[in-house]
Amino acid sequence: MKTVLITGATGDVGSHLRRELAGKYQLRLSDRRPIKAASKGEKFIKADVSRMADALKITKGVDAIVHLGGYSVEGPWEAILQANIVGCYNIFEAARRNGVKRIIFPTSNHAVGFYRRDQTIDHRVYPRPDSRYGVSKVFGEALGSLYADKYGMEMFMIRIGNVNPKPIDKRRLSIWFSPRDLAQLVSLGIEKPGIKFEIVYGVSGNKRSWYDNSNAYRLGYTPQDDAEAWAEEVLKNEKPGNPIAELYQGGIFCAVEEVQNPAAPAKAAAKKARRKKGK
Ligand SMILES: NC(=O)c1ccc[n+]([C@@H]2O[C@H](COP(=O)([O-])OP(=O)(O)OC[C@H]3O[C@@H](n4cnc5c(N)ncnc54)[C@H](O)[C@@H]3O)[C@@H](O)[C@H]2O)c1
Repeated sequence: MKTVLITGATGDVGSHLRRELAGKYQLRLSDRRPIKAASKGEKFIKADVSRMADALKITKGVDAIVHLGGYSVEGPWEAILQANIVGCYNIFEAARRNGVKRIIFPTSNHAVGFYRRDQTIDHRVYPRPDSRYGVSKVFGEALGSLYADKYGMEMFMIRIGNVNPKPIDKRRLSIWFSPRDLAQLVSLGIEKPGIKFEIVYGVSGNKRSWYDNSNAYRLGYTPQDDAEAWAEEVLKNEKPGNPIAELYQGGIFCAVEEVQNPAAPAKAAAKKARRKKGK
């Protein structure tokens, strides 16, 4: 059984993947936040990917890396720089030094978010990031390309739309990625022989997709889900939004300076608890 490192494992996507990949791989989980409880077949190592020593420690002796750890929305430059640029470099470079060839990297729809919604784009379009966050994902794609060409590493870049049990608004009807389709595409990225450098879109087989995902299909991806099943319910509750957000694929990231980090409420609660304990 392959040993797979998942960084950012206590986050949202990491939690879906842990559940979906249980029993398929030996999972080495890592995050800078502690994990509640590791299950059978899982081992947790606390680490901050913005520190090279930590990156070297967690990448040692694994067969593949799913590098989810980072700042997952638009936010302050310093936070994005440390988590997504320094952190991504550290993980790719630590993998190279430790002889780990295969990396699955979650880039994002926000790397191409300034394409309009009336366009269909494929994996070959020039990046049009919609945020500092989007720029950090373009950095990851570029670094992956360098490490594939220069060092023969195997880089599978998934431009994820939105991972959720179900699509939650009109925009997500076009970019939804069900947890089981996520697990299928990540598994393909881990196992497919002969990968050098590939960019695919991490979306389900959505009828309203803005992406030509033929590169993923060529590699063997067969999505099981389609957001259309929720379209009626979703559209019933849809309210007119920001006009810039409505025009572009990246939505509100195209119009604002900061987006609520899904990890923020947990962080705020932890901070409050520490304050209570006098820490
Ligand atoms: N959720 C989505 O639909 C989606 C869409 C596109 C791309 N992505 C990408 O997938 C990855 C996971 O997203 P998510 O939604 O689970 O995000 P999340 O914010 O829920 O989880 C990210 C995790 O990374 C950890 N982390 C942050 N900085 C770190 C550091 N310096 N060292 C170690 N760990 C660190 C956090 O503690 C957190 O547990 C991110 O890279 C994100 O950009 C997610």
